[in-house]
Amino acid sequence: MLQIEDFGALSKIETPFYYYDIDLFRRTADLAASLSRETGIEIHYSVKANSDRRLIEMLSSRGFGADCVSGDEIVFAVDCGFRPESIMFAGVGKTDKEIFQALQMGIGSFNVESLEEIAIIGDLAGRLGRRVSITLRINPNIDPHTHHYITTGLYEDKFGISDVGFDGAVTLLRQFPNIDFYGLQFHIGSQIMDVEEVFRLECERVNEIVRIFEANGLTVRNIDLGGGLGVDYDEPDLHPIPELEKWLRTIDRHLVRRPDQKLHVEPGRAMVAQCGTLMTRVLYVKKGENRRFLIVDAGMNDLIRPALYGAYHKIENLSAHYGGGPARESRVYDVVGPVCESADTFGTQRLMEKSVRGDLIAIRSTGAYGQVMASHYNMRPLAPAVYSDRLSEGPRRKDYYSQQ
Ligand SMILES: Cc1ncc(COP(=O)(O)O)c(C=O)c1O
Repeated sequence: MLQIEDFGALSKIETPFYYYDIDLFRRTADLAASLSRETGIEIHYSVKANSDRRLIEMLSSRGFGADCVSGDEIVFAVDCGFRPESIMFAGVGKTDKEIFQALQMGIGSFNVESLEEIAIIGDLAGRLGRRVSITLRINPNIDPHTHHYITTGLYEDKFGISDVGFDGAVTLLRQFPNIDFYGLQFHIGSQIMDVEEVFRLECERVNEIVRIFEANGLTVRNIDLGGGLGVDYDEPDLHPIPELEKWLRTIDRHLVRRPDQKLHVEPGRAMVAQCGTLMTRVLYVKKGENRRFLIVDAGMNDLIRPALYGAYHKIENLSAHYGGGPARESRVYDVVGPVCESADTFGTQRLMEKSVRGDLIAIRSTGAYGQVMASHYNMRPLAPAVYSDRLSEGPRRKDYYSQQ
């Protein structure tokens, strides 16, 4: 069950909202920082996983870099304290406007995903009279054993440059005197649980590919192994902090690096998933023909992962646990939202305490790819953030664009 110190204060806040356990987040970030110091593997937080200002300011203040995937993410990351030179700009479809903006801001490197992009960025940088640092994103054709929607490193995925493009990339990089080749980037997928096996395989393949590029006369100054570390969605209380240690030690053991070669990873989900909970309230308990529906006030517009990926999130009735009163019997429910789509379902056939209108329900492990993927579908407002250490301040609406 989610650990809450002040259920009374929490239960007074209007739902739905994202609740962030700041103590757990701090412990996760501190562990990542200390492992990074020990192994020499730098951490670049993948901003797309959760761009809550408070959370990412806590990461920038620990000296992490950032992995950004849009011009606005870069502007926001800098506004939240990340040094521009610690920012990598990734993504298969950067616009000219975003490229110019990133060049002007002096970001660390562009992660380039196609030969065409090398030429475009080289050309645009030339027009500004600037040098530009380029990292090649490689498609290593490795199966990460995860959901096919979040697999990114197989030949059939749209990401990265695969073997057939290596020679062309080397030739192109040489044609642009204003391009500084920085290194290679890999990201094979997300929610990887088979940590030792998959990342060992990835490292072995990366070692081969680094050798190919260096044999062609390019010095790989930086290796970026992407993110992908999975979290325990089934039992978040058993594993509140993901296996950052196993992940970084596996990489440290299997990746061949020269002393002057830099290495970084880009965790997103692993940093934030477990500290977030979507809080919602029971609106109605509806008895269907052969199902009982718990209709809650959060919808797929607040959390789309179950509808999009068939993702599993643990669901708990906090009122039954913390609200006082006698122990409740169990019931099986389909937990659904109010949005006009059958896919607006958070869980089917879940065994829970008997629930009644007004009960506070926790949808666990929603700190990553939760609030950031929210929409106004059905003209519903965006769920705000509430921080465990600032309950009395109440909800805070997101302020991505406050600097513009
Ligand atoms: C290039 C890149 N790096 C890092 C990440 C972060 O992945 P995760 O949240 O699985 O750690 C992603 C996620 O899609 C990505 O595409």
